[in-house]
Amino acid sequence: MNPQSRPRAVVLVGFMGAGKTSVGSALAARLGWRFVDLDDRIVAREGRPIAAIFQQAGEPAFRRAETRALAELLQQLPGSGACVLALGGGAFTREENIELLERHGSSVVFLDAPLEELRRRCAPEGELRPLFRDENQFRQLYEARRGHYMRAALRVDTGAKSVEQVASELVALLQLDGCHE
Ligand code: S3P
Repeated sequence: MNPQSRPRAVVLVGFMGAGKTSVGSALAARLGWRFVDLDDRIVAREGRPIAAIFQQAGEPAFRRAETRALAELLQQLPGSGACVLALGGGAFTREENIELLERHGSSVVFLDAPLEELRRRCAPEGELRPLFRDENQFRQLYEARRGHYMRAALRVDTGAKSVEQVASELVALLQLDGCHE
C-alpha cells in the first residue's frame, strides 16, 4: 500500500464487549499511535461517568454528548498524529455519527463476536454499562444494531481470540506493518 493512502485513523466499532477498548489500546501501543476511547472523552467533557449521564440526563442527552465529542475529536485529528479510536457500542448506529466518520475518511472496522461471548465479556462490569440489562434486551439490541455495524468497511471476528491476536489481524488487514509514528 502506498504510505500516503495508509489510514491515519482506525476506528473500532461493535457491540458492548466486542473488545473495542482493549484491542484498540493494544493496536495503538503496537503502532506507537495515540489511543482514544470516545466514552472517556465524553466522561471528561461532561464531568461525570457514563452511567450518571444516562441516569441524570437520559439516553438522548448521552447521544448528543457522544456526537459532540466525536465531531470535536475528528476535527482535531489532522493535526494530532495517527490515532486508534474506540467508539461506544451505540455510536456507529446513528446516522449523524456514521456521516461524520465517512466525511472524515477514517477506516472503520467492525469487531464482531458471538452474542453469548459478548454477554460473558460484559458481565463482570455490567453495572458500568447502562444498556447491559437482561438477556432478552441484550439480544434484541444486538440484533437491531448488527446491520449498522455491517456498514463498516471491514469486519474482524474476535470470538475465542486473544486481544493480541485480534490486534495482529488488524495490522495485517489494514496493512499497517512498519507504520510506526
Ligand atoms: C453503549 C455502550 C457503552 C457506552 C454507553 C452506551 C451502547 O460503550 O458508550 O454505555 O449504547 O451500547 P461500550 O460499547 O464500550 O460498552
